[in-house]
Amino acid sequence: MHCLCLCLTEMRSIIVLLLLNILTDCSVSFTVKVPPGPVVAHVGSTVILPCWISPAQNAEALEIRWYRHGQFSNTVLLYRHGNIQDEQEETFRNRSSLTPLSDLSGGLKGGDVSLQLETITIQDEALFHCYVSGDNGYDSAELELKATAPGSAPVLFPRPLDDGRLNVSCSSSGWYPEPNITWTSDQGKTLRPAAVSHHRAADGLFSVHSWTTVSPSDAQLVSCSVSTTTGESKEGKVDIQGIISSDSSDPWKALFITVIICALLGLAALILYKYRSKPAGKKQAGTDCENGPVEERKVPVNINIEDLRKHAEQITIDRENISPDLKVTADCKCVRDSPEYHHTAEGFPYQLCAFGAQRFTSGRHYWEVELARENTPAKNYWLIGVAKHGNHCGKDRSAVTPSCGFWFLCSDGENGFYPNTETPIYLSVTPRPERLGVLLDYDEGLLQFYSVKESKHLLTMHTRFSDSIVPLFNPGVGDICPLKIVDCPVEEDSPAGVTVPLLNN
Ligand SMILES: *[C@@H]1O[C@H](CO)[C@@H](O)[C@H](O)[C@H]1NC(C)=O
Ligand SMILES: *[C@@H]1O[C@H](CO)[C@@H](O)[C@H](O)[C@H]1NC(C)=O
Ligand SMILES: *[C@@H]1O[C@H](CO)[C@@H](O)[C@H](O)[C@H]1NC(C)=O
Repeated sequence: MHCLCLCLTEMRSIIVLLLLNILTDCSVSFTVKVPPGPVVAHVGSTVILPCWISPAQNAEALEIRWYRHGQFSNTVLLYRHGNIQDEQEETFRNRSSLTPLSDLSGGLKGGDVSLQLETITIQDEALFHCYVSGDNGYDSAELELKATAPGSAPVLFPRPLDDGRLNVSCSSSGWYPEPNITWTSDQGKTLRPAAVSHHRAADGLFSVHSWTTVSPSDAQLVSCSVSTTTGESKEGKVDIQGIISSDSSDPWKALFITVIICALLGLAALILYKYRSKPAGKKQAGTDCENGPVEERKVPVNINIEDLRKHAEQITIDRENISPDLKVTADCKCVRDSPEYHHTAEGFPYQLCAFGAQRFTSGRHYWEVELARENTPAKNYWLIGVAKHGNHCGKDRSAVTPSCGFWFLCSDGENGFYPNTETPIYLSVTPRPERLGVLLDYDEGLLQFYSVKESKHLLTMHTRFSDSIVPLFNPGVGDICPLKIVDCPVEEDSPAGVTVPLLNN
């Protein structure tokens, strides 16, 4: 019953009144309760710091003061005389309130004095005091608020070293608190990082970078996992078998080498089979060449672009569903980032997307996109593929995966090229494609990319399409050259730099 001690020392002059209180009110004194352990909240989220008085009683006539440790008069929220008071630390204005913990708590009437805080920031991390006082006493309790931020999905990037091993780097940003990074290979074996570095950005969030070396004979998949003590964790993987190549400057060549090796193995198997003439020789050729979900083994080595163009479609950009930060020419063929747009966040600007106005629900469809212009270098940033009709592009890579209805190849400047497979795979392409051909085979569930100038197959993605599929374009930020669809005749009001269309069916 410490309620009385304070009152007695503070209000000696009205001792008589207090004595009356002793006799009448102390029976209804209370204690303040909070849950054990810290409350962990995501940066940007809304959180409730639970606090209630026990035994339950109406708290409407009490004073409720929420403050941070050591800042009694600098309140987060002050409720007194039946109202929330205006005196409050500025950073908590308009984002703190007394909010019942649940519908069943009865709110203030039921003694629930929980504090709700909106748009949590890292600076909100503190020891919060929940202090409640009434005419006949007071009590308080402490509750720790911890902020946490899950960073971006780790991006892995393998580079061949001279000794045949690979230098695989992993980076991720936007974490809080400072995360740990762990490397594992496919057998769950831990790999030792050669270096780990952390960086703290101005907004207080951490980024982490690490690299390690691995021999392709030791592992197929290398995985990098980033996690915090608050339980956030994200993992990225790279299939290093699909990347290693004899010519380190051109990992795409590795795919072709794989294709050729498979073809040779197939031939050898066929010869063996014929030679032995035994059913036992019927083992499927090429099963040893499984290379992950992306590479296509049955790719014709000699690509005839004219054959692909038999499936050409006239694609235009759908003006109605376009990111406000993009500009489209009058003929709906050219798209680029608006000059007013400044990309501040790290990573590719996935949200800057435009969709084709044409929808496909079956069959084969082909279109070409020009990524260079005379006397200018090929674009560094672009994202080209297909998406489910009606999709909206999120900012984050995790929002544009195949399971969300997106399939694309992305050129992300010096980060290289990657398809949006759920397991990240990185490739570097030289030279940069100046014109990209896209073949959508809806019924077979294939999406293929070609470099038109070199008549080269780049990549095949396997999937199963459902509903309407539309072309997807994203010009990235900062390139001189726009992204231009070139698969149909030029309209009369075409912008400067439009070339004569290739296709005249
Ligand atoms: C709080 O809201 C009021 C009225 O909506 C507004 O005038 C004031 O600027 C806001 N204060 C802060 C700190 O956001
Ligand atoms: C591996 O790559 C990182 C950059 O991601 C670089 O800092 C490091 O020096 C490279 N290590 C070797 C052995 O090349
Ligand atoms: C990070 O690693 C250090 C040292 O290995 C360890 O003490 C700490 O608990 C780890 N933190 C997390 C979040 O795993």
